[in-house]
Amino acid sequence: MTTPRPRIRFATPADREALRLLEHEYFPAKSGVRHAGYLYDDENLAAIALTERLAAPMRAFTFVAEVEGEIVGFAVGVPSMMTSGDTDAQTMNLQYLAVQPEHRGQGIGAALVKKIITRSQKVVQNLIHAHIPVDQVGFYEGLGWKVEPMGHGLAWLPDGDHLRADAGDPAFGFPLMASKVLRSRGVLQSFPYPVVTGKPTLDASMEAARLVDAGKLDPSKFDEFTRDFVTMGRAEARSLAAKTTP
Ligand SMILES: CC(C)(COP(=O)(O)OP(=O)(O)OC[C@H]1O[C@@H](n2cnc3c(N)ncnc32)[C@H](O)[C@@H]1OP(=O)(O)O)[C@@H](O)C(=O)NCCC(=O)NCCS
Repeated sequence: MTTPRPRIRFATPADREALRLLEHEYFPAKSGVRHAGYLYDDENLAAIALTERLAAPMRAFTFVAEVEGEIVGFAVGVPSMMTSGDTDAQTMNLQYLAVQPEHRGQGIGAALVKKIITRSQKVVQNLIHAHIPVDQVGFYEGLGWKVEPMGHGLAWLPDGDHLRADAGDPAFGFPLMASKVLRSRGVLQSFPYPVVTGKPTLDASMEAARLVDAGKLDPSKFDEFTRDFVTMGRAEARSLAAKTTP
């Protein structure tokens, strides 16, 4: 007997309950730990997120993999959130990806990621990133993503815009930062940075200052905000060094 091929399609509001259960199963909230909140608990928000003609223009893509009418996997891409709380229209965050265990190893996860990437490229996003567990490094690297070392985030400079940074989420079991450049022209430079304070922009700015001072990062194309970030990073690094020097 052959296993039926999964069908991959944009989600609809009728998928809400199935997605809500998958979301709670694979991405559990933890008491006492900040959580971004669930996408499908609120009926009205879910109705928007799961209606393609409303969600897609906001660059929010939910794809489901279906076998004989049952949802066996899903992937959600949403615009990345910046430290300021604004969304970053140029960057996609692969917020969720899961395939039910009995359907793994058949290419469903890879096909879901491909769908999200294709849609992201259509709306000219520069980069996609995800916070991932340690046991999925091979999956992402196999798809051509870059995974930063443990304890490191990724900083990148979009062409004509300010420094961006993000790191994994150890408190939820997704400690590693994985990313893939979707538009090489849109990303001038990128570099890993050590997580020191836990504030991505500050930590990335400290590393940017160190790299500029060491001649390893070219500041000639920095915009004025990035120049300010680097000044801030240099000052923060000095202040931290003063605190730790006896
Ligand atoms: C990660 C996950 C989505 C992969 O789904 P999948 O459908 O089994 O993946 P695929 O079959 O498309 O795998 C694609 C390739 O990656 C490989 N691969 C899959 N999982 C892997 C892993 N954990 N480590 C190394 N390689 C892996 C496959 O062998 C396959 O290789 P091939 O192309 O050489 O055959 C699935 O394991 C999962 O749902 N994990 C739990 C959910 C989770 O923790 N999600 C959080 C991430 S945001």
